[in-house]
Amino acid sequence: MILVTGGTGLTGSHLLFYLTRKGLKVRAIFRSEESLNKTKNLFKHYSTQAEKLWTNIEWFTADITDITSLEHVFEDVTQVYHTAAKVSFSPKDKEILMQTNVEGTNNLLHLALENNVQKFLHVSSIAALGSYDNPITEKTHWNWKEVHSDYAISKYLSEMEVWRAGQEGLPVVIINPGVILGAHFWDSGIGQILQKVDKGLQFYPPGGNAFVDVRDVVKIMIELMQSNISNESFIVSGTNKTYFELLTSIAKAFEKTPPRTKLPYWLAQILYLAGKFSGKGITSKTILKNLYQYPQYSSQKLINALNYHFIPFESSIQNLTTQYRKAIKK
Ligand SMILES: NC(=O)c1ccc[n+]([C@@H]2O[C@H](COP(=O)([O-])OP(=O)(O)OC[C@H]3O[C@@H](n4cnc5c(N)ncnc54)[C@H](OP(=O)(O)O)[C@@H]3O)[C@@H](O)[C@H]2O)c1
Repeated sequence: MILVTGGTGLTGSHLLFYLTRKGLKVRAIFRSEESLNKTKNLFKHYSTQAEKLWTNIEWFTADITDITSLEHVFEDVTQVYHTAAKVSFSPKDKEILMQTNVEGTNNLLHLALENNVQKFLHVSSIAALGSYDNPITEKTHWNWKEVHSDYAISKYLSEMEVWRAGQEGLPVVIINPGVILGAHFWDSGIGQILQKVDKGLQFYPPGGNAFVDVRDVVKIMIELMQSNISNESFIVSGTNKTYFELLTSIAKAFEKTPPRTKLPYWLAQILYLAGKFSGKGITSKTILKNLYQYPQYSSQKLINALNYHFIPFESSIQNLTTQYRKAIKK
């Protein structure tokens, strides 16, 4: 049996869709009916066979921070895809980030070892890597001397738990995706950026980041799980782009004027001060720093291991903006 955590989130719901479309039976955990309905709606968006695919999922109520709620979930489980996490850059969320991402991952690893799971695939982030190499690779290790968000620290510490379980005999694989470009979660991540560009954006931050289509992420997860690769980590990034390139591509697809003015640092600092109080926008020093940096990430290790071809960036943006327009019209 395959177990998926985070199946009601952006990555996990796409993963469930791709696994069930392959005819595989899956067990997934959820915390609220509201989240569950979101995933069900995503299936309906993507397939006329949604109801049939949905019956391939066995849903259990569980919280990864509560080990007792997870115990019955592991019966007959051979493979675990761990996508559940708290994703937040707000300094207010430090405790919940550590509880969910570190203790929650630890609970799952404990049960995976106890139940002789054959492979555990952990979704980490490029945030859990160091940034001192150019390009950054899987060998660019974490450096405590650099400034990190609580989210990044929680993802790094959860990786440490995964490697420890690997040493104890659990076959593990870690992926480190860049910013995930995926539809139907319009109130978080890339969805919020689409909303901002749709309303009209004047400024662009001068930095950049690594980006990857959610369809690539889940296809790669399945390929890695089905391969004989273990105890390895892989950066999963389709491309490195400046925020100017990202925002311009989205604006063009929306037939809006692309942002023309570089966000001056003094204004970003004011937005940071406002964000600290409101909990919205630039809420932390690390977000501020990231807006002005453009680290380059390399997925060469993954490309070589799977002979993988990523979806071109422009196709991802085209797909995202089309899905957004359809969703907003409803
Ligand atoms: N999005 C990105 O750009 C990005 C980039 C790099 C790496 N990642 C990593 O990719 C993974 C998936 O990210 P995402 O953006 O798809 O996340 P997401 O949309 O925010 O979804 C998070 C999922 O985790 C679940 N979850 C959170 N706390 C939980 C708990 N205590 N017990 C059980 N489930 C819990 C959520 O359930 P509810 O629905 O009940 O809240 C939801 O299903 C995460 O590990 C994240 O760190 C994301």
